[in-house]
Amino acid sequence: MNHPIHRPRRLRRNEALRGLVRETRLSTAGLIYPLFVCPGTQVRQEVNSMPGVFQQSADKIVEDCREIEALGIPGVMLFGLPEKKDPRGASSISSTGVVQRAIEAIRKANLNLLIFTDVCLCEYTDHGHCGVIENGEVANDATLPILAEQALSHARAGADIVAPSDMMDGRVAAIRKKLDEHKFENIAILSYAAKYCSGFYGPFREAADSAPQFGDRRSYQMDPANAREALKEVALDLEEGADMVMVKPALPYLDVIRQVRDRFEVPVAAYNVSGEYAMVKAAVQKGWLDERRVVVEILTGIQRAGAGIILTYHAKDLARWLKAC
Ligand code: PBG
Repeated sequence: MNHPIHRPRRLRRNEALRGLVRETRLSTAGLIYPLFVCPGTQVRQEVNSMPGVFQQSADKIVEDCREIEALGIPGVMLFGLPEKKDPRGASSISSTGVVQRAIEAIRKANLNLLIFTDVCLCEYTDHGHCGVIENGEVANDATLPILAEQALSHARAGADIVAPSDMMDGRVAAIRKKLDEHKFENIAILSYAAKYCSGFYGPFREAADSAPQFGDRRSYQMDPANAREALKEVALDLEEGADMVMVKPALPYLDVIRQVRDRFEVPVAAYNVSGEYAMVKAAVQKGWLDERRVVVEILTGIQRAGAGIILTYHAKDLARWLKAC
């Protein structure tokens, strides 16, 4: 019989008190905003299933980056929509590729922004898989040199952090070795270490035009049922030289984020993915949810679970809301 001595409601009486005892404080300092770069100039095409998210040419990306910087968001994650696709994703390693050019343009604008790049083949291959195909399968080891070249080309263009999302085994080691051989030992690796084979990537595949043309990604992305395996993936990537690790998606995997946070001494990121964003946007459009309330609640939950870094399409909105309060 604790009551009436203990009355937890005493500390909930007003906002000043609630603010004082708040355990999780969202801040723009941990946000990364994903951007989709396409060829051309003056292109800004909204993604149907992701209201407020655009495919943009490099010039428009730079404009967006100025706004992102002004909002206090520390970094962007670049994804590319190349002019041409082929079986080996050749355009992904070109020094004149869409992402490489966008990196250079952002660098030239001299912004105080960290440039993260997604390293993967799925946006660049005509079959849409994250690696090259041999005998009808996604070939692990044959994919590694291409990923390493791609990471190197991003570093050469001026990226700060490369983020492999392909889920090939050994890719972190291959990328680290390649970067170091070319004197890019200071370029960090954020590995998508625990990336699940998720239905929540649907809208992204429209945004990045990267849907697999046959089969699915179950032979390389993780089974949603597994958490212990995620810890193994993280341990392997750290052994191979990852500086930071990511869990993706975020909401269905909060337990995994928590376990990774508790087990490892590195920065942990979570990717609040396209489908998680689209669900909120759709319900808000119908008038069924209060956008600001649920977005703050979702991102607070992801941070409370243990993610110090959150990649989210809500980043600009959240930064505006945090500025206003
Ligand atoms: C793969 C990649 C994907 C996402 C980020 N990197 C999609 C996939 O694996 O099919 C998804 C991001 C999102 O859904 O917001 N390069």
